Order: sequence, then C-alpha cells, then structure tokens
Amino acid sequence: MRAAYLVEPDADRPAEAIRVGDLDPAPAPDGWVEVDVRAGALNMHDIWTLRGANKGTGTRPHVIGSDAAGVAGDRDVIVYPVVPRKPDGRIVEHAVLLPDAGHGVLAERIAVPPGHLVAKPGHLSWSEAAALPTAWLTAYRMLFTKARLEPGHVVLVQGAGGGVATAAIGLAAAAGATVVVTSRSPGKRERALALGATAAIGSGERVPQLADVVVETVGPATFEHSTRSTRAGGTIVVCGGTSGFAAQLDLARLFAREISVHGSTMGTLAEFEALVAFVAAHRIRPAVDSTADLADVRAQAARMLAGEAFGKLCVSLS
Ligand SMILES: NC(=O)c1ccc[n+]([C@@H]2O[C@H](COP(=O)([O-])OP(=O)(O)OC[C@H]3O[C@@H](n4cnc5c(N)ncnc54)[C@H](OP(=O)(O)O)[C@@H]3O)[C@@H](O)[C@H]2O)c1
Repeated sequence: MRAAYLVEPDADRPAEAIRVGDLDPAPAPDGWVEVDVRAGALNMHDIWTLRGANKGTGTRPHVIGSDAAGVAGDRDVIVYPVVPRKPDGRIVEHAVLLPDAGHGVLAERIAVPPGHLVAKPGHLSWSEAAALPTAWLTAYRMLFTKARLEPGHVVLVQGAGGGVATAAIGLAAAAGATVVVTSRSPGKRERALALGATAAIGSGERVPQLADVVVETVGPATFEHSTRSTRAGGTIVVCGGTSGFAAQLDLARLFAREISVHGSTMGTLAEFEALVAFVAAHRIRPAVDSTADLADVRAQAARMLAGEAFGKLCVSLS
C-alpha cells in the first residue's frame, strides 16, 4: 500500500521529512470501514507533525494526513477527520484529528470508524472533495456555529489564500454575506474576488466597511487589524496563527466596542454533514491550488510552507 509517512521529524525542513513508499496496512480496529483513497489534501497540521510538534501516538512509521475522499464498497465518500466524536456537539474539547490517533489518511487504503463517512456530492472532483474535511469544516464551524453568520453580515477574511480562508470566502458568500478579504498578494486578491469576495484589500489596509464577523487564521501579523476592523458588537473567530501565536490585543477597544473573540477548532460530525449538504445545495467548488501525484507530496508541502498556495494543496492516489 502506497502511503506518505513520517519516520524522523525535521523541525527546520519539515517537507523533507515526508517519505513515500509501500507500507503494510495497519490492522483496523473491529467494525472500522475500509476506504480506497482517491485523493487527499495537506494542512498546516501536517507541517506541525512533520516538525515533531504534534506527538500523536508516537508510533513510526506514522502515516500523515487528515483529509481524504475515496470509495468505500460501492459508495463515493468523504472522511470526517475528527476522533472521538462528542455526541453533544457543543464542544470538540480533547478531540484529535485521525492521524494523531494513529490513523493518518494519505495512503491508498485506510480504515476509519463507522459513521465517519459522508457521501461525496456528485459535482465535486476527488480533490475538491478531499479539500473539505479539515479546513472547510473549521471554516464552517467558525462562521455558522461560533459567529452565527446571517445573510447581509459583513465578513472580513484575513490572509485570503489559506485553506480555511478560501473556505470561509466560499461559504460566507453562498450564505449571502458581504465578504471582504485581505492578502499581501495582488494575485491572491484577484482570485478571492473570483471566489465571491466583494472587496479585496492589502494586508493591514483600511476596510471599506467594519465587519460583523472576522475570520482570523493568520495571527499576530493581522490580529491588531482584525480588532480595528470589527464593528461594535461584532465577533472575531480565531482558529490558528500561521504567523505565530502571541498576538497583541487592545483591551480598551475590545471592551469599549463590546467585541467578542471566540476560539474555534475543527468541528462535530453534525457540522461536517451540514457542511457537505451546504456545499452540495450551493454547488460550491472548493478552491484547489493544485493536485500532484502522491509521489510529489513533498513539493506540495514545500509550496504550503512558502505561502504560495491559493486554496488546498491536494494529492492524487488513483
Ligand atoms: N483549529 C483548527 O481546527 C484549524 C484547522 C485548520 C487550520 N488551522 C490553522 O489555521 C491557520 C491557517 O491555516 P491554512 O492552512 O488555512 O492557511 P495557511 O496556508 O497557513 O495560510 C494562511 C494565510 O496566512 C497569510 N499569512 C501568512 N503569513 C503572513 C504574514 N506574515 N502576514 C500576513 N499574512 C500572512 C497568507 O495570506 P496571504 O499570502 O494571502 O497574505 C496565507 O494565505 C494555521 O495556523 C492552521 O494551523 C486550525
């Protein structure tokens, strides 16, 4: 079975830590369902794993990846990436991604817990389907569960090219929001407008309208701008920090304008099912930067690290 895996982390050159080769499939726990993976996608989470920052189970070789779509029996499916499921759905506390539980998905054949498979919408390619699990689920929860997005809201999305950011643009635009994006790159700003954003500005530039909702994935490089750009009573939702994790916060602005800041991470199975249904109903095509054969997964990881990508970096296993 071909797989992308880690043997020895490399903190300085994480992409170089990926190996691609034949592995024996790990024995599947009783009752788990086998999936022939057609495509997968990379996330910053994989980069942290390759750096050695995510300890996971510590077993080696460790198959990487939390995003996959493929065939289970006679069904085309997308894999829900989070274990364990929290039945109450309010908090995903202590939930981990499949690879951190020892079940990474960038392999030709994987096994997943029953109930972790959602039907692939017919309009999506395998790569588009594989884009959904981690980044799109995270964006869905940020917008709809945490920020309670409504039609007519103004949404500011920082760092337009990222997986979560491109997902937030597509979802918020389809939900009837006005979407403003920031990016350092003129090319990415153009592409964000094509995805449904109504305005695209340079990173740190004055927004045309204060935002009801800010989608924050960049961290210290944009956080001060996020608080400056939120209307009184608005909401900032944070799921990560590509530029670091120690941001400055003007507390006076926060309390005087009664701005709420929410943390958000991944999402529940119910949210994943709702996301896939929403994508199907609105015939949304997730932004895929590029798809490479699994053999070239290192180059895809390097592209993510260089900040060059617009949308998801996918790999094909067909
Ligand atoms: N909590 C969760 O469940 C969860 C799930 C998924 C991702 N995440 C986290 O969310 C973050 C985003 O991940 P991602 O994969 O969507 O995107 P990403 O590839 O990490 O990039 C996000 C964007 O950050 C912007 N950026 C990077 N450095 C910057 C800087 N110095 N100044 C301004 N902008 C900068 C870039 O935008 P421009 O080039 O357009 O300016 C880039 O497109 C990561 O920290 C990831 O770990 C968390």
